[in-house]
Order: sequence, then C-alpha cells, then structure tokens
Amino acid sequence: MLEISLHILDILNNSITAGATRMSVRIEEDAAAAVLTVQVTDNGTGMTEEMLADVKNPFSTTRTTRKVGLGLSFLEEACRISGGHLTVTSDLGSGTGITATFAISSIDRVPLGNMGETLSGLISAYPNLDFVCRFVNRSGMEAGLDTAEMRELLGPVPLSEPEVYFFIRDYIAEKQENILGGI
Ligand SMILES: Nc1ncnc2c1ncn2[C@@H]1O[C@H](COP(=O)(O)OP(=O)(O)OP(=O)(O)O)[C@@H](O)[C@H]1O
Ligand SMILES: [Mg+2]
Repeated sequence: MLEISLHILDILNNSITAGATRMSVRIEEDAAAAVLTVQVTDNGTGMTEEMLADVKNPFSTTRTTRKVGLGLSFLEEACRISGGHLTVTSDLGSGTGITATFAISSIDRVPLGNMGETLSGLISAYPNLDFVCRFVNRSGMEAGLDTAEMRELLGPVPLSEPEVYFFIRDYIAEKQENILGGI
C-alpha cells in the first residue's frame, strides 16, 4: 500500500471484525526523529496462541470468502523494507495490539498519508464505536481525538452527521500536521 494510513485502516477493519468497540491508534516519532512507531490496540476477541503464532503468514486467515489474509503480511513487508518491524500481541478475550515501526528517513518508507481522511470515513461508518487517534512528536508534544469525548460533547447529534464528518476529518488532519507535519 502507498500510505501508512491505509495500512492502519486495514488493521482497524480487523479490529472491527473481531468485535472491538474501542480502538486506539498512536503514531509517535522518537526523540531522535529516527523511528516512527504506529500502535493500534483494540478490545476485540483477541486470538488464540496458535493464530497469533501464524498471523503474519499470508495463508493465515479466519476469512471465509478467500484463503489468504493479506492485511498483516502487507504491513509487515512495508515495515521490513524501511528497516522496521511488526509485532502483534493478543490476549484471547481481551484484545489485540499491533506495533509497527518504520525508519523515518529510509527512502523505502511509505508516507504516513492523511489520517483525517482515513479515520473520518471509518468513524462515520461506525458512529457507535470508539476511536482514539493520538500523534506524538520528537519533543513529546501530543494531540489527537477521542470519539467517546466528542460524542459526549455532541449530545444527541450522531458522529455520522455530515458536518461532524467534515469537522473530524479536518481536526485530525490539522493535529497531524501540527505534530507530525512532513512525515
Ligand atoms: N485485531 C484482531 N483481533 C482478532 N483477530 C485478528 C485481528 N487482526 C487479525 N486477526 C486475525 O488474523 C487473521 C489475519 O489478518 P489479516 O489482516 O492479515 O488478514 P484478513 O483480515 O484475514 O484478510 P484481509 O486483511 O486480506 O482482508 C484474521 O483473519 C484474523 O483471524
Ligand atoms: Mg485484515
């Protein structure tokens, strides 16, 4: 895939399929500005140890529509070519965590993409699920959005409302630009 944000979208779709109601994305630049770490955690069903051991294998899937599952193997490849790696942890019954690292200055690293564009569509498609997105930069500056907090502020207005969709899209994009602009 051409952008890290599209890999994140794919990973979040796994979480939704696993019945998660709360998903958190944290995108962090380290103090040396050398490594970008993307962490996605969910409170879905989790995986058995056998599934977890095999999860990055493209022929490992619980899909019934086809025999290959490419999401995690594509992400692992994108990490690997930039000199990073992918780690998956999971607890059956409590959730899953994905940590993907990328060497920021590698010429083979795909760009982060626009998390506002990527997440706003998912949030309006699943207005009752909770999504958190946080950006952290090399100086430790942080910003982001938690849809649970937004839902409380909005009261009866659903997150799928078109105006809310545009607000969320632009808000996340602005935070990304302020904290991680250029990555
Ligand atoms: N967050 C998660 N919670 C529980 N199980 C997961 C999670 N992410 C992945 N899995 C398991 O790992 C398998 C492989 O995931 P992967 O994204 O690589 O492929 P897929 O989702 O099956 O297919 P594709 O991504 O190509 O549509 C899934 O079928 C699912 O069983
Ligand atoms: Mg998948």
